[in-house]
Amino acid sequence: MRIHRKIILCSVGIVGLIMTAISCKKEPAPSTPPPDPGYKLTPYNIVAPAHFPQMHIPEDNKPYVERIELGRMLYYDNILSNDGRACASCHFQSYGFTVPNMVNDMPVLPHVNLAWHGKFMWDGSKTGTLEDVMLFETKEFFATDLEKMNASEKYRDLFKKYYGVDYITHHDIAYALAQFTRSMISKDTKYDRYMSGKEQLTYNEEMGMRIFFSEKGDCFHCHTAMITTDGEMHNTGLDSIYTKEMDKGYFNVTGDPKDLGRFRTPNLRNVALRKNFMHDGRFKTLEEVIDFYDHSVKRVSNVDPIMTKEGKENGLRLTIVEKQQLVAFLNTLTDQTYITDTSFSKPTY
Ligand code: HEC
Ligand code: HEC
Repeated sequence: MRIHRKIILCSVGIVGLIMTAISCKKEPAPSTPPPDPGYKLTPYNIVAPAHFPQMHIPEDNKPYVERIELGRMLYYDNILSNDGRACASCHFQSYGFTVPNMVNDMPVLPHVNLAWHGKFMWDGSKTGTLEDVMLFETKEFFATDLEKMNASEKYRDLFKKYYGVDYITHHDIAYALAQFTRSMISKDTKYDRYMSGKEQLTYNEEMGMRIFFSEKGDCFHCHTAMITTDGEMHNTGLDSIYTKEMDKGYFNVTGDPKDLGRFRTPNLRNVALRKNFMHDGRFKTLEEVIDFYDHSVKRVSNVDPIMTKEGKENGLRLTIVEKQQLVAFLNTLTDQTYITDTSFSKPTY
């Protein structure tokens, strides 16, 4: 499992007895030094469309062109890991920053509009800002070797220039990675262009959109506009028996039975580029996902009330055409601009 057990157990606090104080110790409180006064950074204006929700940017990590660029270099550099992998080894731009294959029995979560998230991972086991989750990625997941980082003259110079530090820490790396990932905004899907009046949807796409955003499909309650996720944890009735440990979802984080089978709503942008759906990749096509919502929702005690509300006791009961229309709408969420935008690609220098 990719999930870092220690972190989860620490946060649950139920196995405190077997955990040493050291394994729960956090990095010192963030204290980003001001950039070296000798270098003038270029402020970067993160532009999200007006109809997107407000984005929260931590005061101590305001976006700058140079810091975003540094984060991008790190994202594509295998110097961060000890096994030759870079972030981009599993988060491929052409697939919306995920990969078609499963990794550790789960689909790789995409990187898109992450700036609006407060809960991360399928099971919501990481919370906080992008800086917080990036600290986990470099310090725990990759266990970035700081000696190696600091032996690199290139990175020592860049961190000195852009962050004013003499010795690069995990915290500094996390801050730079957060800069880059916060700038990764998908806003040019066909659906976006339709919303801003620049393009029409076909008849089927529009009918699919209506199912998605009405009581008929009820998808929008969790896959909210415009980000297409509410960022919250839900049990959608996938399982009545939790055969695999991972199927227990948020329960593995909180230990509370009411969290059994709850998962963080995934972002549906670029969903048509994915090959495995749900936290364990059990469905291989969007049609299978819709069939599940249509007639396979399990009425477990903590299933989200939306799933079984009045009139939906027997599922959505969509016609074949309506299911096709829903798939047609999901296809309008693919953002070609995003997956080809060279400002998110591997730096060429
Ligand atoms: C070996 C493949 C692999 C590599 C390399 C990798 N990731 Fe991931 N990443 C995953 C998988 C799998 C998930 C889903 C894990 C889960 O939900 O527990 C994920 C999830 C994430 C998430 C959560 C996204 C969300 O929607 O909640 C973030 C953020 C993330 N990765 C950032 C990074 C960064 C930054 C790096 C490099 C430092 C990196 N990843 C390297 C496989 C990888
Ligand atoms: C009660 C909240 C909720 C509602 C309503 C809902 N979803 Fe979901 N959706 C989720 C959650 C949570 C997951 C992840 C479940 C898991 O991984 O086990 C998910 C997963 C998905 C996925 C797979 C995404 C991926 O990356 O694997 C698709 C596609 C999807 N939903 C489409 C829809 C459609 C279409 C509707 C309406 C018919 C809908 N959802 C209604 C919460 C919801």
